[in-house]
Amino acid sequence: MPGIRGALFDTTLGGFNVPKDTILLINHAKMAMNPINFPQPQKFDPTRYLDENGVVVAPDKKIMLFGNGFRKCPGMQIARDMMFTVMANLLQRFTLQLPEGVTVFPVGRREGLVQHPLPYKIRAIPR
Ligand code: HEM
Repeated sequence: MPGIRGALFDTTLGGFNVPKDTILLINHAKMAMNPINFPQPQKFDPTRYLDENGVVVAPDKKIMLFGNGFRKCPGMQIARDMMFTVMANLLQRFTLQLPEGVTVFPVGRREGLVQHPLPYKIRAIPR
């Protein structure tokens, strides 16, 4: 689990008392689904990451995917570049479609420490 922190001394955080030695975990799922930051969080809406000029706005401050502070993920840039390259290659070379006879993706996710989408099949047709 990323972003684990321990309290070195008695303190407060967001109005809550945090005794020394408390282990603190970041709840990424709750942050990503917070309707204050992301209206209609369940809706598939990639435009929520664009500003009024269509420029991508990194949502880091709202979800902290790569953690925060001194221990922030040092692999962030390589991870982002890798994801961009993989997605760009896939979309450039394949047309992605639902399998014949299927009209919707399964809705929901596998819960756990790491959440996964439910398994689904897809057709990747070379362009
Ligand atoms: C999508 C991909 C990735 C995600 C979402 C991710 C996320 C994270 C998060 C949340 C943390 C904890 C930060 C914190 O405690 O505040 C972390 C730590 C770390 N990540 Fe990543 N990471 C990714 C890819 C990578 C890659 C590709 C590398 C190396 C090439 C890497 C190396 C590390 C290391 C070494 C730490 C520990 C840093 C420390 O404790 O000082 N990560 N990562």
